Amino acid sequence: MTKRSILITGGAGFIGSHVVRLFVNKYPDYQIVNYDKLTYAGNLENLRDVEKSAHYKFVKGDILDAEMLQKTFLEFQIDGVVHLAAESHVDRSIENPDEFAITNIIGTIRLLNAAKKAWQNNFEGKRFYHISTDEVYGSLGAEGFFTETTPLDPRSPYSASKASSDQFVLAFENSYHLPVVISRCSNNYGPYHFPEKLIPLMINNVINEKPLPVYGKGENIRDWLFVEDHAKAIDVIFHKGKNGEVYNIGGHNEWKNIDLVHLLCEIMDKKLGRTKGASAKLITYVKDRPGHDMRYAINPTKTKTELGWAPTIQFEAGLEKTVDWYLANKEWLNHVTSGAYRGYYENMYSNR
Ligand code: NAD
Ligand code: DAU
Repeated sequence: MTKRSILITGGAGFIGSHVVRLFVNKYPDYQIVNYDKLTYAGNLENLRDVEKSAHYKFVKGDILDAEMLQKTFLEFQIDGVVHLAAESHVDRSIENPDEFAITNIIGTIRLLNAAKKAWQNNFEGKRFYHISTDEVYGSLGAEGFFTETTPLDPRSPYSASKASSDQFVLAFENSYHLPVVISRCSNNYGPYHFPEKLIPLMINNVINEKPLPVYGKGENIRDWLFVEDHAKAIDVIFHKGKNGEVYNIGGHNEWKNIDLVHLLCEIMDKKLGRTKGASAKLITYVKDRPGHDMRYAINPTKTKTELGWAPTIQFEAGLEKTVDWYLANKEWLNHVTSGAYRGYYENMYSNR
């Protein structure tokens, strides 16, 4: 008999695939159900190593589809949810905010309703875990960190949709006593990261000797965490976090974009046997992202002290590991950079 039956939404995406992998490998007595619509960002090639496990199931479904959700909760007797499904790219949200509101806000409400209905207000042993982002806190100046009590101040359509979904999750706790927990993580990097985001985009362009588009002056700061450390934090919070609480996740690893791109270029010159400085010559400053948040920096003290989580991968080592993975998985990269993605990419960068 399975001990738990967990619905992971967005399990075919970047972070979701690492969470699915961790849960499938670590908990052989759990049933893990990956519920994913397979948008441009969802890719079952991310899960080839676990897809044959007997306690893993994939359901192609949309979080907006209330009927399909109800059927899935019932069929698999779901008792826990780890909700990662979302539209996740800030630049796309600026191009098309509606889609972000529909998926991230309405989709989350549909999922909350499905859990509430399936669990029929008997919430003993149940858990709804919502994966959020540090971007809901807004943008920092040179000083300070985001804590769990920092007021929400989202500034892009993406972060506005995430902040709104966070509020709905907490409203379900307050109004119906649904047992919820939320975490807010800083920027992730690592294998299976879709090459529209900074690090994999730069890796792909260095490989192909294409320009490296740095927005504005490259002075914006992000706080980077290796994706497997995020997945481990999700595991700890899912099992040990307190209902109604928010937990910040981050590794105190702030980098100016331009410094990060230079570091990546150095690593890649070595790995590709190119002359020192060759990849950095590809750096091209382009038009800034509208409303570009200046700095994110997470204070993860609560998660560390209350739950005992801490990051394990140091940045330079994680970056090398990531570059090695992309160089060893060119087929994966070629698959995701063909077709629809290419059209989007050209549209996005043709006017910069
Ligand atoms: P991603 O874009 O790589 O993956 C999103 C996944 O959700 C895809 O598999 C996609 O097919 C699926 N999906 C989208 N719409 C869906 C729908 N309507 N129904 C079902 N599935 C749907 O995203 P990611 O970077 O892995 O982020 C996962 C979650 O973590 C998101 O909620 C994001 O806000 C949050 N987050 C991301 C980061 C980061 O650095 N990437 C940091 C903090 C938090
Ligand atoms: O902080 C967590 C968030 O991190 C997540 O919630 C989002 O889902 C995730 O996409 C990420 O958002 P960012 O906007 O910070 O990530 P992105 O990789 O798009 O950009 C990182 C920084 O690099 C940002 O300052 C913009 C800049 N950038 C990005 C791209 C794609 C460039 O300079 N050039 C680029 O081509």
